[in-house]
Amino acid sequence: MLEQITDYTTEVNNFNPANAAELEAFRIRFLGTKGLIKDLFDQFKTVGAEEKRTMGKGLNEFKQLAEAKYQSLKEALETQPEKTVSKEDLTLPGEGFEIGSRHPLSLVRNEIIDIFKRLGFIVAEGPEIEDDWHNFSALNFPQEHPARDMQDTFFISKKSPADSGEAAGDIALRTHTSSVQVRMMEAGKPPFRAIMPGRVYRNEAISARAHCFFHQVEGLYVDENVSFADLKQTLYHFVQELYGQGTKLRFRPSYFPFTEPSAEMDISCTICHGSGCQMCKYTGWVEILGCGMVDPNVLENCGIDSTKYTGFAFGMGIERITNLKYVIRDLRLFSENDVRFLKQFQTEIS
Ligand code: DAH
Repeated sequence: MLEQITDYTTEVNNFNPANAAELEAFRIRFLGTKGLIKDLFDQFKTVGAEEKRTMGKGLNEFKQLAEAKYQSLKEALETQPEKTVSKEDLTLPGEGFEIGSRHPLSLVRNEIIDIFKRLGFIVAEGPEIEDDWHNFSALNFPQEHPARDMQDTFFISKKSPADSGEAAGDIALRTHTSSVQVRMMEAGKPPFRAIMPGRVYRNEAISARAHCFFHQVEGLYVDENVSFADLKQTLYHFVQELYGQGTKLRFRPSYFPFTEPSAEMDISCTICHGSGCQMCKYTGWVEILGCGMVDPNVLENCGIDSTKYTGFAFGMGIERITNLKYVIRDLRLFSENDVRFLKQFQTEIS
């Protein structure tokens, strides 16, 4: 009898009815007037006094367990409608599902693309795994330029002339989208008017202000008689569209191997409008891009007659542009996929 009680206890504990009918069958089997507990109590009457003492407690406990289990399952079934019923009842309202939102970097990238598209620029893309030629050499980087150094570039493999019989070429993750300029110019004939968004990689320690990958938009305009004035006017229009009319800009002379002359462009701080804040380090100006006139060497490297054609180019970091729009102080937020961050950019997906 003791063994029977142990078996029944396990059965009661494991019981998990799918619906009310199964629960009713359970009640009849254990608690009904002709049920197993009634049976056990009948048997109990027939045993000797010695056994009664050891078994009485176990039997009572089992009865309480079965009753309590029945009661709690009954309440649970009453409060939750049966799943099988709700699935079949087509008149019930459907289950809603959450709609995602665009990532802030995609929002800003699309906005940049839209502005340049209206100016007649097309969108071009290139590979993230690049060779030395497209990422560096064609862009007029001297062989010993520090940007080629292992510190900045993630090299994937190093082919030696002995392996391939060709000139040595390093395969790397592209460090900038300027490589797409080269691919575009090599593949076609001027005029070129394109913007080239994409992800780039640099061997940097990850912190609030730096990451080992980020995003850029490159711009290229090559035709006859393109001048620095065209560059200025294009970027002026871009900034007014992106950050609002009245945003000021200024150009500072700079150096890039692939442009001559080269400049960096600042805009009046979009956060404090010049009165001074952390974002502009209390200068009222923030740098947003590098630009310049395409170096004739680059045109020639891509098979374009530099006596006939001139061009301008520019490159900007999308994270930086986004930070200035939404005041995001930690770059890591962009790649952590934290929905509490991403939901703040809820927009209609189109
Ligand atoms: N490639 C540069 C960088 O990653 C940005 C840049 C500067 C692009 C000047 C250009 C340019 O096209 O003309 O920092």
